[in-house]
Amino acid sequence: MPSRFALPDFPWDALEPAKARAAEHPDGIVDLSVGTPVDPTPELVRRALTDASDAHGYPQTHGTPALREAVAGWFERRRGVPGLDPAGVLPTVGSKELVAWLPLLLGLGPGDQVAIPSVAYPTYDVGARLARAEPVVVDLAGDLPQAGGIRLLWVNSPSNPTGAVHDVDTLARVVRWARERGVVVASDECYAELVWDEDALVDGLPRPGHVPSILDPRVSGGSTEGLLACYSLSKQSNLAGYRAALVAGDPRIVRRLLEIRKHAGMIVPWPVQEAMRVALGDDAHVAEQRARYAERRAALLPALQGAGLQVDHSEAGLYLWSTRDEDCWSTVDALAQDGILVAPGAFYGAAGARHVRIALTASDERIEAAVRRLSR
Ligand SMILES: Cc1ncc(COP(=O)(O)O)c(C=O)c1O
Repeated sequence: MPSRFALPDFPWDALEPAKARAAEHPDGIVDLSVGTPVDPTPELVRRALTDASDAHGYPQTHGTPALREAVAGWFERRRGVPGLDPAGVLPTVGSKELVAWLPLLLGLGPGDQVAIPSVAYPTYDVGARLARAEPVVVDLAGDLPQAGGIRLLWVNSPSNPTGAVHDVDTLARVVRWARERGVVVASDECYAELVWDEDALVDGLPRPGHVPSILDPRVSGGSTEGLLACYSLSKQSNLAGYRAALVAGDPRIVRRLLEIRKHAGMIVPWPVQEAMRVALGDDAHVAEQRARYAERRAALLPALQGAGLQVDHSEAGLYLWSTRDEDCWSTVDALAQDGILVAPGAFYGAAGARHVRIALTASDERIEAAVRRLSR
């Protein structure tokens, strides 16, 4: 008998018919349904990986001290978070595994609740279910629950799929609420550098603090107590195939995660640790990648609007959260007729059922093809 904690059906299978239809277009499919990077991994990062290819010994689960220092340096330089304790830094095998396992690693189980956004990256819900805890929707900008069994709260800013960004006041209020109740706040921030407001940029990247981290002292009061920030290099450095990510924050919590991950052999390979260390020290390739996506967005956004779609939020991150004020599957089908594949918003929660998520992760040539088709 399926339990209420059963994993959901893998939703992407439901998109296959639309994908087949889009693939029939004479000029080929433009697949904007998934957020997988299409541009090359930067040369300096590839070099760091190959330079570390003699990896005969076991790597450190905690990450090398040099990598953890690089993470702390990156938080200070890029996110406006000074003085992060490297003891509270841990590399992860991409962010997805951490998101999926965090409730379990924190010791959550039946009777506990995990708070997730109403429209969200599906793995927050999956992670709660893997621990046999209960996922509950909490709107961070609304009334925060006064009672209940919430032990972990997920923040995702900039959001996948909506591209909305939480401001300092909203996050600070969430942190106060969580600390009063002993709730751990985990903030998934992997789109923080992919900001589209040109006025917010300095040397091609957003001003540190423009997208506030949960560890930003204006949010945290200068203490990491009860807080974790998750960050992935998949998107900003085209490293999705390396599985390169990290969690940083409260050293007490990180120590617990580390202890279990050591027992379970959940280790980032040393060549990838080296690639991460080098990638985190170089801002130029991130600025270059941000600019590529900005150009694609500048071409696609007006074409979508011209074709009758309204684009909501989408101020940061890799997606245009779009609606024709109809059921998302009708929009998916209509765009598939033009050979353009997008993701139905219903994949991200019932509240997304009238939107589609349109990714910027396609080559310039494919984005131009989409723009031509939308403009006819
Ligand atoms: C919000 C969010 N968190 C985590 C991830 C996972 O990233 P990674 O490639 O590091 O597993 C993604 C990937 O799309 C994402 O959108």
